[in-house]
Amino acid sequence: MSFGREGRWEEAAAAFARADETMAKFAWMRQHARRLVAEVALAEGWGEPARWLREALAFFEGCGNERIASACRSLLARSGTAVPRRRGGASVPLDLRALNLVHERSEKMSNARLEAIFTDVVTSLQRIIAEHQVTSDEYRVATEWLTEAGNQGYEIPLLLDVFLSPTVDDINFAENGGTESNVEGPFYVAEAPLLSRPYVLPQRDDEPGDILVFSGRVLAGDGTPLPGAMLDIWHATSNGEYSRFQPGLPDYNLRGRLSTDEDGSYEFRTVVPSPYEIPKTGATGKLLAGLGRHAFRPGHIHFKVSCQGFRLLTTQIYFEGDPWLGSDVAGAVKPSLVISLEKRESASTQLPYLAGSYDFVLTPA
Ligand SMILES: [Fe+2]
Repeated sequence: MSFGREGRWEEAAAAFARADETMAKFAWMRQHARRLVAEVALAEGWGEPARWLREALAFFEGCGNERIASACRSLLARSGTAVPRRRGGASVPLDLRALNLVHERSEKMSNARLEAIFTDVVTSLQRIIAEHQVTSDEYRVATEWLTEAGNQGYEIPLLLDVFLSPTVDDINFAENGGTESNVEGPFYVAEAPLLSRPYVLPQRDDEPGDILVFSGRVLAGDGTPLPGAMLDIWHATSNGEYSRFQPGLPDYNLRGRLSTDEDGSYEFRTVVPSPYEIPKTGATGKLLAGLGRHAFRPGHIHFKVSCQGFRLLTTQIYFEGDPWLGSDVAGAVKPSLVISLEKRESASTQLPYLAGSYDFVLTPA
């Protein structure tokens, strides 16, 4: 095979196509390489590099990389090809601060970091689409499903919590000597009532469920008790319903904040939370049904434990014997957070109750 002026361009394209499998994992590298090859092709008069330049332009505009997008535009102009109009007139849509999603002083999420993550997200999705030969109909169904989720109150946080939040938790809270963290879930409400001793979580007169007396201590890593530490506690009813999210429940039902005593100890009364199914009527439930998966979470109590000078601990406590411990729909259960409950009887009233205990260990901020 011989290569003329057009052929050399084709040869370069073929060489890059051979490297595509590697570069496909790095969309930025692939498009950058295409732009450079197109630039050389243009300079050498090898033929028509416009297609690759247009693809690279679209890519870098999508990433908000205006510098390289601008280079693509000028190269296209030099090639005598019409330069595509800027998409949507917004070539830099990726500054989260502009969307009020990231605090102004956040150092972790710079634009460069956002660009890198966003690019990887898009690249991964593009690879999945190609691998599974996703059809236009499937793409449309996915779009409608996402739209539906976005229109359904807490479905998007629920969806993300079920499938992604445990991974975020694992990565950000690697073992550090303290109590293991656990996902917050979508049902936290700030500013729950500050309780007075003896602590009882706010509940209805006829709140269903076995009485639970939960106690323990809040400690530093060296075992020093932490007096005045705050425990922010919330859990579902025996029907798996959270106040402030389920109509008909009193405000702050089974939600409250309390502080530890001088010896770092705490004790509160509530009812034993039952396993429950996460909401099944929304987009997340539909997806789980389509996957043939159940929607159960094991019973659990959520805690946020805070103390000045220590890192905020967000975690959950589970109970031995729960049938869903091994197949939590959220995949969030950690063995160190599972406790046993002991049957006891009140000395004064002879009423039976269950007792649970857990010492939370905080790590320095
Ligand atoms: Fe929960």
